[in-house]
Amino acid sequence: MSSSPLPQSATSKGRARTLNAPPRAGALSQWALLPLRGFLGVTFLFAGLQKLANPGFFNEKSPSSIQAQLTGAARVSPLHALLAHLLSYAVPIGITIAIAEVAIGLGTLLGLWSRIAAVGGALVSLSLFFTVSFHASPYYTGSDIVFLFAWIPLIISGGGTRFSMDARIAREAATSQGAPPPELVAIPFAQVQAFCGHYEKRNCTARNNEPCDQTLCPVLLGPSESSEREDAVHRRTVIVRSAATAVVGASAALFAAGTAEVGKVIAGSPSTPGVNELGATSVTTTPGQSAPSQSEGTLLGAAKDVAVGRPAVFTIPSSGDPGIVIELAQGHYVGFDTVCPHMGCTVQYSPSNNMLVCPCHHSEFYANNGDVIQGPAPHGLTKLDIVEGSDGNLYLR
Ligand code: FES
Repeated sequence: MSSSPLPQSATSKGRARTLNAPPRAGALSQWALLPLRGFLGVTFLFAGLQKLANPGFFNEKSPSSIQAQLTGAARVSPLHALLAHLLSYAVPIGITIAIAEVAIGLGTLLGLWSRIAAVGGALVSLSLFFTVSFHASPYYTGSDIVFLFAWIPLIISGGGTRFSMDARIAREAATSQGAPPPELVAIPFAQVQAFCGHYEKRNCTARNNEPCDQTLCPVLLGPSESSEREDAVHRRTVIVRSAATAVVGASAALFAAGTAEVGKVIAGSPSTPGVNELGATSVTTTPGQSAPSQSEGTLLGAAKDVAVGRPAVFTIPSSGDPGIVIELAQGHYVGFDTVCPHMGCTVQYSPSNNMLVCPCHHSEFYANNGDVIQGPAPHGLTKLDIVEGSDGNLYLR
């Protein structure tokens, strides 16, 4: 009688290969989600901290504020009616988004509540897709749709077993209750067949060609657990996970508050040096009145208040949007609606390189015609018709 515990067919020369360790690809697959988790976790954590560290994000006068971004998104988003209603809640929405991004980033990086973090990340990406990048063309140039699909593997499979607090807590909870570790182990199906026999002409080779019966194969049946033990493992997993969440959450809150304070100190008081503000006034010729050089238009202000390298800003009467007038060369003025076509932040003029730059996501535009130098803005700025009258004033037509 053979001393081997394996069926004869398994130890025969022809079957030896099937009893080896699971294929290396199976073991390596446990690492497959780590790069994705790392990228998404770092990106969302960074995005949240960046918002908290930027005092301008919550300051409605800042061109990069959440108010400016919501206003811009309300113009272009298919959800514009909803966004228009949310404008008055811009600051709480901004704080919620920033905190959610930090929580999602940390959960993903640490592998803590991985699936919930992934669902949160997908929802944030979906909302950004509908508010920010819906009009990206071609559609694959918008990043949010890519982020949305990048979260799906983590929603389906969780954070994996490597460098994952969820996996570690589950393992320790099982060990503490004397239950087997919860990890799934990949076993080649041929190896299962070697233990349990295989199906051939409706009969099982391991059962002397009797009909197959899955319940007689321990590999297919899996470990049997008492429900009390399962409940105890589940309870302990939830308790330890909640405690870990409290510790991580408290540390993150302290770190985020510190980041916001450091941001305030570094940013100092907001100022936009070298920019004049013009008061736009509608001007219409009336009979007998000494008319300005333009018969009709909007008086912006004295041309001498704008100089090369020193633009002036004003409010465009027809839209309420912020506008800018730039003197490119002596007596040569150009003007633009400074609402960024990407997400509605207010672009600013950079005299050192003679371009308009968006402070939110760094789109760049030519100062002579407003065309895009670099995205993510999908198209250029709206150009305004600025003329200098013979009375020395600038007019918007
Ligand atoms: S709002 Fe995103 S680049 Fe301007």
